[in-house]
Amino acid sequence: MKAVQVRQWGGIDAAVVEDVERPQPAAGEVLIRVKATSINPLDWSIREGYLQEYVSLPYLLGSDVSGDIEALGEGVEGLQIGMPIYGMKGLRGGGFAEYTTMLPTELAAKPHSLSYKEAAAVPHAALTAWQSLNDIAELQTGQKILIHAAAGGVGHYAVQFAKLKGAYVIGTGSAKNEAFVRGLGADEFIDYPNVPFESVVNDMDVVFDTVGYDTTVRSCGVLKSGGTLVCIVTPPPPEVAAQHNVVVKFYGAHPDSAQLKDIAALIDAGKITPSISQVLQLDQVHEALQLSQGRHVRGKLVMSLEA
Ligand SMILES: NC(=O)c1ccc[n+]([C@@H]2O[C@H](COP(=O)([O-])OP(=O)(O)OC[C@H]3O[C@@H](n4cnc5c(N)ncnc54)[C@H](OP(=O)(O)O)[C@@H]3O)[C@@H](O)[C@H]2O)c1
Repeated sequence: MKAVQVRQWGGIDAAVVEDVERPQPAAGEVLIRVKATSINPLDWSIREGYLQEYVSLPYLLGSDVSGDIEALGEGVEGLQIGMPIYGMKGLRGGGFAEYTTMLPTELAAKPHSLSYKEAAAVPHAALTAWQSLNDIAELQTGQKILIHAAAGGVGHYAVQFAKLKGAYVIGTGSAKNEAFVRGLGADEFIDYPNVPFESVVNDMDVVFDTVGYDTTVRSCGVLKSGGTLVCIVTPPPPEVAAQHNVVVKFYGAHPDSAQLKDIAALIDAGKITPSISQVLQLDQVHEALQLSQGRHVRGKLVMSLEA
């Protein structure tokens, strides 16, 4: 089968579409015929070797999966061959492939209202936003939240989840994304290349920082005392957080079948909508990863494994 393999850490050429052996589901796993996948910054971060502490070579890239269950490993209950699913593999990788094995805890039934391509745009980014806002920030109705990179893969779900929660949402993005972010439900938009966010925002209950570095540090100053900064890229220096008396939660998302089921229900009820900026084919993986690494994709980039 075709899969995207990394044999040595590096730049764009380090991710190679190769013929590899089709995996077999071990006990407790299922085999998925992958129909579509999507790009996450995690994919090129792994390829570059930034996560060598957690993964080893050779490595099959790809966290997101949508497709059909092709076979069941020994002992798997409650899932059927042929069932359309979507899911997140995270650091386990292997989603950029015609077949991959998954644990039942990594997947749920695909939202009925979405195509496979649309469903592939959901798991990793939406679970990150869901867990960051609900489990980590414990965002409450009526709270004010600043969401950085509101037009991005994670950000565009975060805006929608925060509005569903009844929060007051301020999103950052560049001017070309203002209509998009407001269309997701944001109450205010900050054109960050032209307006420093700290010049127009203060007293936030929560900041969800999906940008990192300087943005993380500056975010500490726009929270109210005791406010919560959830960061998923870099944590701020502890002394900066202490100076502003803010609670910092540096977070890494994980697969969660029950949450995927809840998100699918919201999607099927028309309350959450994935946005896809482009669909590419698996053999365009270099172009797809390069686009993502440019850091200005709106919504999600999907790769199809169907003709
Ligand atoms: N810890 C975890 O579990 C976890 C999980 C998922 C993602 N992440 C990390 O979170 C980050 C975001 O992921 P993603 O999938 O959302 O990325 P993404 O889709 O590639 O984000 C692209 C978006 O970022 C915006 N952007 C770029 N620089 C910005 C800035 N300085 N201020 C505001 N917006 C900016 C762009 O908007 P404009 O074009 O308008 O600039 C674009 O829409 C990545 O670094 C990723 O590795 C971590």
